[in-house]
Amino acid sequence: MTDNSMILPINQENIALAARALRSGALVSFPTETVYGLGADATKGNAVANIFEAKGRPSFNPLIVHVPDIETAKRYVTFNKLAEELAVKLWPGPITMVLPRVEDCSISELASAGLPTLAIRIPANPLARTLLKEAGIPVAAPSANLSGKISPTEAQHVADDLGDKVACILDGGSCAVGLESTVISLADNKITILRPGGISREDLLPFGYPVEEAEADAEISSPGMLLSHYAPGCSVRLNAMQKNDGEAFLSFGSGFEEIEDLNLSAEGDLKEAAANLFSALHKLDKMKPTVIAVTPIPNEGIGIAINDRLNRAAAPKE
Ligand code: TXA
Ligand code: MG
Repeated sequence: MTDNSMILPINQENIALAARALRSGALVSFPTETVYGLGADATKGNAVANIFEAKGRPSFNPLIVHVPDIETAKRYVTFNKLAEELAVKLWPGPITMVLPRVEDCSISELASAGLPTLAIRIPANPLARTLLKEAGIPVAAPSANLSGKISPTEAQHVADDLGDKVACILDGGSCAVGLESTVISLADNKITILRPGGISREDLLPFGYPVEEAEADAEISSPGMLLSHYAPGCSVRLNAMQKNDGEAFLSFGSGFEEIEDLNLSAEGDLKEAAANLFSALHKLDKMKPTVIAVTPIPNEGIGIAINDRLNRAAAPKE
């Protein structure tokens, strides 16, 4: 029998409890107008790593960060005129904008998978916004289902998939839209639909800018694009056991203290390593080494996603 004790009815007390859980780094599932989200504090790499671990995803894809209002969104991303117009008209609502991260953005690099841009949205569900205000932190949240399973539109769906991995599930009934938000990019003064969803192309046309459709998630899912987006400038050598001249050395666990430039997790904790991965690669890349050498990472649990990312970075460049 499924244990449903983590499903909480909505009231002020339970919202406060969920907000506290989020602030403490735990996972909380909450309803939005599209689907139930699996939320974590977007500023904490470890909390974001919990999301990937819980969903059992074998790779890191960039997540949507949820905020309660435009003012808060502006702390994390830069709005151009087009973004400003769309935000005023379509938010709160089922649309996500991919915008440049501000300099010194406090969102974890894992949340945007090392990209210079961040996907952000203000959900229409008032309960979701109350939770976001009460929590006082930006919340990264993909749909609250196991990798490869159907997106959840009721609290019970979340409990069935992820009940043992969340601090609680706020029960907001059925989701009104029942389909994920539309993801758009706003570069080059045009609207590019990266993922179709709750807001249609027709809803976007009246703004008077060109509206284009990218191939399904092209920007993110194609490995070639992934490489050009966030591979380090130098090459990457995997399963390194020693450091060669001119190399930057990235280690995991103990045994390399004499030669390491950075350690993903001295304790050998894969979740901590995932949380540190993208910022570590960026830091080492800035040292302008010939090669970033990386020690072996155990290929289990979230280590599979870490190795997926490192393998892409190590793939020959075109
Ligand atoms: O309706 C929704 O959007 C739900 C609810 C919970 O808000 N969330 C959701 O999140 O579907 P997620 O993480 O499953 O979807 C993220 C989408 C993916 O298609 C991803 O490729 C795209 O947004 N994305 C995220 N960051 C991006 C970026 N920096 N550039 C391009 N695409 C990005
Ligand atoms: Mg999903």
